[in-house]
Formats: sequence, C-alpha cells, structure tokens
Amino acid sequence: MEPSNAGHSGARRKVTVVGAGMVGGTVAQMLALRDYADVVLVDIVEGLPQGKALDLMQSGAVLGFDTRLTGLNDYAGTTGSDVVVITSGIARKPGMSRDDLLRTNLGIVRSVTRQVVAQSPDAIVIVVSNPLDAMCHAAFDAAGFPRERVIGMAGVLDSARFRTFIAMELDVSVEDVSAFVLGGHGDTMVPLSRYSTVAGIPITELLPAERVVALEERTANGGAEIVGLLKTGSAYYAPGTSVVAMVDAILLDKRRVLPCSVLLQGEYGIDGLFIGVPIKLGASGVEHIFQVTLTTEERAKLQHSADAVRELVATMARMDTEPPSA
Ligand SMILES: NC(=O)c1ccc[n+]([C@@H]2O[C@H](COP(=O)([O-])OP(=O)(O)OC[C@H]3O[C@@H](n4cnc5c(N)ncnc54)[C@H](O)[C@@H]3O)[C@@H](O)[C@H]2O)c1
Repeated sequence: MEPSNAGHSGARRKVTVVGAGMVGGTVAQMLALRDYADVVLVDIVEGLPQGKALDLMQSGAVLGFDTRLTGLNDYAGTTGSDVVVITSGIARKPGMSRDDLLRTNLGIVRSVTRQVVAQSPDAIVIVVSNPLDAMCHAAFDAAGFPRERVIGMAGVLDSARFRTFIAMELDVSVEDVSAFVLGGHGDTMVPLSRYSTVAGIPITELLPAERVVALEERTANGGAEIVGLLKTGSAYYAPGTSVVAMVDAILLDKRRVLPCSVLLQGEYGIDGLFIGVPIKLGASGVEHIFQVTLTTEERAKLQHSADAVRELVATMARMDTEPPSA
C-alpha cells in the first residue's frame, strides 16, 4: 500500500518536489529537517520516490522531526501544494547534443508542470531543471500563472558559490560575506564584485583586481567544476539547500532579497525573458524586482547573458513548429 496523507488534518503546509533524484532528494531531506511542511516526492521511476520518502521519514525518528513524506508516481496526492519544486529532467549523456537535451527537458518540464499545476492552481512554482532560464519559460507557459508565481533557482546557488570562494580566499567566515550575481544561469552569468562585500566592505577594496576576476571566473564555472570532480553527476547539496532557502522565504514570508530567475518585463531594459535579478521573495512569490544602476561593462555582460537565454528560447519555439523526427 502506498503511504498516504489521508486522515491527516492538513494543517501543515505542503511542498511537492517533482523529480526524486539527487537534487529532489536533497530538497526533501533539508525540508524534512525544517519540520514546518509536509513533502510529496514525485518521480516516474517506480519505487524511487516511495523509497526515498520512507527512508527520510525514518530519519525523523532519530533526529526528532515530524515531517510527513510521501512518494508517488502520479499527481493525485499533490493536491493543494503551496510550493512546487521542479527538478525533473535528464542530464546530458555522451553523444547527446545540447539541442537534444533541450528538447527532452522541455518535454519533461512542460508535461510535469501541466500535471502538477492542475492539482495545485494556487502554488508557487520553483524551477530547478536545466537549462534553467529556458526551463522557466517552459514552466511559465505551461502553468499559465502570473509571473510572480514562477521563479527559477540559480542565483541563490551562484551567489553561494561566489560567497564560498570569497570566504576561502580571504580566510573569513562565509557568514560575513554577501555576494551579488546577475544574469542567466551558466557560464554567461555576471558576478558583480562591486556589490559583493565582506561585512559591508566591497571585495574590490580587499583583493587585487586579478584575484577578483579569478573568483568571478571560478563562480561562473562553478557547476562545471563539480561535474568535473564527480564525473557521473552534477552538484546537489548546495543546489538543494538553495531551493530550501527559497521555500523558507515563501512559506515563512521572510521577504528575503535573493537573486532568482524571473520574467522581466522591461526591468534592466529586458522584456519577455527569464533572467536572474535580485528580488524580494515572500508569501506571494516575487514581491519586488530590485533594479540597480550598472556600469556600461556590466550592462554589456548582462545583455550577452540575456542573448544566450533568448537564443535557447528561440530554439525551443522552433522545436515546437518542427515535425517530430523519425
Ligand atoms: N538550477 C540550478 O542551479 C541547478 C543545480 C543543480 C542541478 N540542476 C538541474 O536539476 C535537474 C535535476 O538534477 P539531479 O542531479 O537531481 O538529476 P537526477 O538525474 O538525479 O534526477 C532527476 C530525476 O527526474 C526524474 N524524472 C525524469 N523525467 C521525469 C518526469 N517526466 N516526471 C517526473 N520525474 C522525472 C528522473 O527519474 C530522476 O529521478 C537537472 O536538470 C540538473 O541539471 C539545476
């Protein structure tokens, strides 16, 4: 018999995590430890979400949390979720082109979004699947939600990486480091060192210019560095934790100021494109988009990053009009 939430009062908030892989499992674990919401894990692989949910619930006996976790292969039990996290997708396999990956993940994200929002029409959707900004477009179109309720996770992770590298370089507590990143997720992202500080002091005052550039580059290649080390997968601890920071901001109405991928409608001179910018994240989702003045060079880098996302969105639109290949 499948574990079920039936019979519970439903007083706790509910978070559905689609994709019970490495990132989805980490999100479920970190959320379980928070102990304020119940978690539903959904995957197409039979037994995987059920196994992870049961295993995680048993860790509650040791650690003392009462989060109810449920694993499912369909969406019936996801009804009424407050937040939906989409991590489903496949990683690029040897011999697979970027376009093949885009096509596959577009199909997956579109299909799961339609199914999950049908059960939870008031949810806030956090997209994690890659290529991130393009998948935000796919989820946004499939959900039919206002832009305030479809948000991509990338900047929280990218700025966490930047903060870590700054703290390592200066040998200071990462708690005192704050970092600012803009742009699409990937190697065109724009770390803004001018606005990245240690206890309020810009890092440009604390480090020679060439070290600042080196840290920016390491941040932009942060995902690839982990893939190079792991070889068989990509990062999941820091990505999962970054998702949970966003869920916290929403469900605890913290109004955190976090870099997230959102649909811009003229902000930063960009229209109709998901791109990473600092937002206020609270109970209603995107509550404000902060606009900062950029230097000419920073604006050019942001445009370059936006162009890369725009190209992916155009490729997805072409894929929709192409006849399916034999
Ligand atoms: N935005 C970011 O910063 C960031 C960071 C890390 C990973 N990612 C992306 O997150 C995604 C997940 O990464 P992962 O390491 O967890 O991968 P993974 O392969 O471990 O997990 C993906 C899961 O999705 C499931 N899945 C596939 N199709 C599905 C469908 N139609 N319905 C439900 N589930 C389905 C798979 O069975 C698998 O369990 C990838 O696209 C990865 O590139 C993004």
